Amino acid sequence: MGRGAACPFCCVRRYTCALRVAAARKKNMDLMEKLVSLCKRRGYVFPSSEIYGGLNGCWDYGPLGVELKRNIKKAWWDDMISHHDETSAPSSAPGSFGMVGLDCSILMNPTVWQASGHVGGFNDPMVDCRETKSRYRADQLVVYRLLAADSVPAPLADEELLYAAPGEVGKTAEADLIEPHRKRAESLRKKLGELRLEPVVGALSDASLRARVLAPGAKAPGSLTAPRAFNLMFKTNVGAMEDNASIAYLRPETAQGIFVNFKSVCDTARVRIPFGIGQIGKAFRNEINPRNFTFRSREFEQMEIEFFCRPEEADDWYRYWRDRRFQWYVNLGLSTDRLHLREHDRDELAHYASGCADVEYAFPFGLSELEGIANRTDFDLRQHMDVSGKDLRYFDDQEPDADKRRYLPYVIEPSAGADRAALAFLCEAYCEDEVGGEARTVLKLHPRLAPIKVAVFPLVKKDGMPERALSLYRGLRTQFHAFYDEKGAIGRRYRRQDEAGTPFCVTVDGQTADDGTVTLRERDSCEQQRLPVDAIAGFLAERMA
Ligand code: GAP
Repeated sequence: MGRGAACPFCCVRRYTCALRVAAARKKNMDLMEKLVSLCKRRGYVFPSSEIYGGLNGCWDYGPLGVELKRNIKKAWWDDMISHHDETSAPSSAPGSFGMVGLDCSILMNPTVWQASGHVGGFNDPMVDCRETKSRYRADQLVVYRLLAADSVPAPLADEELLYAAPGEVGKTAEADLIEPHRKRAESLRKKLGELRLEPVVGALSDASLRARVLAPGAKAPGSLTAPRAFNLMFKTNVGAMEDNASIAYLRPETAQGIFVNFKSVCDTARVRIPFGIGQIGKAFRNEINPRNFTFRSREFEQMEIEFFCRPEEADDWYRYWRDRRFQWYVNLGLSTDRLHLREHDRDELAHYASGCADVEYAFPFGLSELEGIANRTDFDLRQHMDVSGKDLRYFDDQEPDADKRRYLPYVIEPSAGADRAALAFLCEAYCEDEVGGEARTVLKLHPRLAPIKVAVFPLVKKDGMPERALSLYRGLRTQFHAFYDEKGAIGRRYRRQDEAGTPFCVTVDGQTADDGTVTLRERDSCEQQRLPVDAIAGFLAERMA
């Protein structure tokens, strides 16, 4: 590319623009590659069944990964449910409320999914490329035309080619949309001069327009099929017979298990509205295009709350949960620069929802949803009441007005993904810096989330140091996930723990025998301090809070 030439796709001088976009994209993708590689190398995440070539959209958490994910789920469960005090209103809550948990089966009576609308409506539009054999979600393909930058909008010219590229209008950088068609764009630029890109909305549903669309990697236009609805639920059969009567589904969300147990919880748990029911568990979706590491998987875990309240109070509770859930990520270390709360426009809302916001995180591959918080009105309970014929209305025996005693509550649903949260915490934590002139990779995970909380080392393997270090390690292990290591130079042992995300290392050295103190090193600052051996457990407990 000639220095100083104009960029074919915008008005910025070409070399500046292309370099800037390419550099930013490369930096982000490099970060993602490095993170995926660290996850594999250090035992965070492995491709599922890798020795047989893996299974697309499925991942296994290794020894460190499982601890990270368990810590995320524990933090969620503790903060949302078990440590919740129902006797007083948390600051900024409209009032006090109760919280209980559930653990429902993954397989349920299939009528659940008819009532919820998943059998009829849990579809993504899918298109196939007959030439490259690739499959895309139609709503994640942008179709566009390339026009001279100074041209006025005009009808499509005869034989004009359209281009399709993975992405989303308004979200994906133009340079990325151009990338699969760069060569053609270059030759067009030679004819027309500077170019601009104009999205053609609805092109895939229109047969004549679709015939002009060049798919990514395809040589000729017209290779994409019309969009077809593709149901994302995994089907299976329960029992020995494989017929229609035995069909069951792997749940695509944990929420419905909560709705169908609403009455049982009300009857047994002495809960009063407002209250929430939380659940953590696996969910399965036959995603058309699993991608971005664990971000879009076919098997994943959700952490969902269905919060039941009086309809007239639902807006206040919606705002409370939206803001509280956003803050939860901040408290656990995600920076507010990378977090974004996106309130949905009215026309984006599901037909039953009266409010919805996404907590989004700036992943290296773009700003994407971590969690959704929705006001689902009384839609789900009403559906299950209508289809099951069971009265799911709540009875408030303390309501003085008899007409208001029995009603269907509204539901506020904060719905998070444990795997997406794990990925966001890993992306945020990944850091390369220099210590004492030496490069290091460090995972700056919040101490509550770090898989190993403390590593204990003897400085050298002699003079009673291993014995003292082992005794400290054995004492700490009963309270914290601790790790003992006596092999290699002390600097290398620190580096290994930095990369694993261990926030504290404690070293027993020659001075320990004299005055009973040890060196405590903090991962992020690398600062060291001497503390009495007996003070270590208290120090750690304080820092884990
Ligand atoms: N009950 C509402 C519900 O399931 P959703 O937006 O489809 O809403 C909620 O899913 C959360 O579950 C998402 O914000 C995301 O964190 C997680 N999630 C959904 N699909 C996922 C997938 N294919 N892979 C990983 N996580 C996913």
